[in-house]
Amino acid sequence: MFGFFKKRQKTVLRSPLDARLIGVDMHSHLIAGIDDGAQTHDDSLALVKGLKEFGFQKFWTSPHVMSDFYRNSTSTIVNGTQTLNDLLVKAQIDTSIHAAAEYYFDDNFMDLIAKNDLLAIKGEYLLFEFSYLNQPENPFPAIEKIKALGYKPLLAHPERYPFYFHRPDLLEQLRAAGVYFQLNINSLAGHYGPESLKVAQGMIDDNIVDFLGTDIHKTSHLEVIDRALRSEHLYKLVESGRLINPAL
Ligand SMILES: [Fe+2]
Repeated sequence: MFGFFKKRQKTVLRSPLDARLIGVDMHSHLIAGIDDGAQTHDDSLALVKGLKEFGFQKFWTSPHVMSDFYRNSTSTIVNGTQTLNDLLVKAQIDTSIHAAAEYYFDDNFMDLIAKNDLLAIKGEYLLFEFSYLNQPENPFPAIEKIKALGYKPLLAHPERYPFYFHRPDLLEQLRAAGVYFQLNINSLAGHYGPESLKVAQGMIDDNIVDFLGTDIHKTSHLEVIDRALRSEHLYKLVESGRLINPAL
């Protein structure tokens, strides 16, 4: 208990890092009303404004695509992104939002892979997430199909899955299969609990973080990001120069 407490205290030692050093946020839920992220246009504007104030300059937004809850398609996301960009022009907020997706690892995703109907970040990195409850039985055939289509598979927030908390070997297997890893910034503020914080810090220490994302859903996340930007480990990751975000 005390160890966790001590570790969490260590997350907030510095002044906030200027997010211009990260440049591009590649995981967010900014489009109003199509998933559990922004619900209104005002929400969308508040999220973008807040992220811009931290220094983020460009965004790939990634609504959930999940057959049970959020039945988004390429067209709902592309149209929603267009609406959001129009809204930003009207509000005189100078930035650009690009369309991507966060695919839940379900049968619908397998169908979309079969049809090659996919929205990848920069046409290159395909962001997907697993269930938080159940470890995927065998993700490797799908990962191979994604690669065969010419995409780079990118797992969202590996630090958040309880079945990986004490299994770095399973994360290693994914990396050996060519999977890139995206860390949620807010994990570094302890937002998802002490286990996720510990895995997040361990992933940074082991040099297996390729991307940082805010995974922002609501305005209350802005306060958490403000804390996370003060994390020693965030500084360490950004200073390592190994983040791919600036190239997006
Ligand atoms: Fe997300």
